[in-house]
Amino acid sequence: MKNNLQLDEQGRLRHFLTIEGLSRPLLTEILDTAESFAGVGERTVKKVPLLRGKVIANLFFETSTRTRTTFELAAKRLSADVLNLNISTSSTTKGETLLDTLRNLEAMQVDMFVVRHNESGSAHFIAQHAAPHVSVINAGDGRHAHPTQAMLDMFTIRRHKKDFSQLKVAIVGDLLHSRVARSQIAALNTLGVAEIRCIAPRTLMPGDIRSCGVHPYSNMEQGIRDADVVIMLRLQKERMQGAFIPSEHEYFRLFGLTGRRLELLHPEAIVMHPGPINRGVEMDSQVADGERSVILQQVTYGIAVRMAVMSLCMQSSDRGGEA
Ligand code: CP
Repeated sequence: MKNNLQLDEQGRLRHFLTIEGLSRPLLTEILDTAESFAGVGERTVKKVPLLRGKVIANLFFETSTRTRTTFELAAKRLSADVLNLNISTSSTTKGETLLDTLRNLEAMQVDMFVVRHNESGSAHFIAQHAAPHVSVINAGDGRHAHPTQAMLDMFTIRRHKKDFSQLKVAIVGDLLHSRVARSQIAALNTLGVAEIRCIAPRTLMPGDIRSCGVHPYSNMEQGIRDADVVIMLRLQKERMQGAFIPSEHEYFRLFGLTGRRLELLHPEAIVMHPGPINRGVEMDSQVADGERSVILQQVTYGIAVRMAVMSLCMQSSDRGGEA
């Protein structure tokens, strides 16, 4: 897919659709901007006036807990007005096309669409057809990308580990169906980590995974040994057609993160998961809730990262409007 669609003529973010094609300085700018917003949630009045007067529409054609609510909170903390379109009660159920829905929202002077859709490429499609002043943020499209999840994960890693260049990062689970993993791998490569390991049963490992600059493992113990960061992925059952694993019990036996397996990691390793977690399938509850887990911090940091992405995109579209 073309990536320069998401940059303006000055190379600044206009839309945020995918990590691929974005530079290290730009990803670092997102992380630094998020750092400047991280304290807003600690204040008595959890707001800054940066997007006052702007209208942001959340269009979630697929279920979500974390991403939808943290985008809404992020927009409100930036003082924007927020529309949450309830797709199940919208006129899309009467046959209205996606583009007609967008045109109608644009007629209400919406400035930004935050889009989750089960079709890969849907956010690009919307960005290609959006009015010139409108920004589009991809909140997860099919198996393709989940770029704000990847950036909140990078923010969490940087908060705990500071220097990306020394890190061994292990990503474990359903890599085949995971838009999160695809975006994480792109971000980790761009930010220059020492080593990315991908650990999965052969049935859930993409055949071309080495071309992403990662080391594949089908043995959990070998793959996670001495890792500084372990990112567990959810089994994406809604995207599986057919049997990819013998059973959840067997999957947990071979690839679940347990207290015993934690002992193989670097002593100061952190454990991450984008959520939602399937306890007892991807990891033990004691691990999910244990002292190495930074899973709920990921959620908190997601607000600051989404504030950063929205404010950077809006700066770009404001400049475009003035030109
Ligand atoms: N991590 C993530 O995208 O979670 P939700 O599906 O709940 O938004």
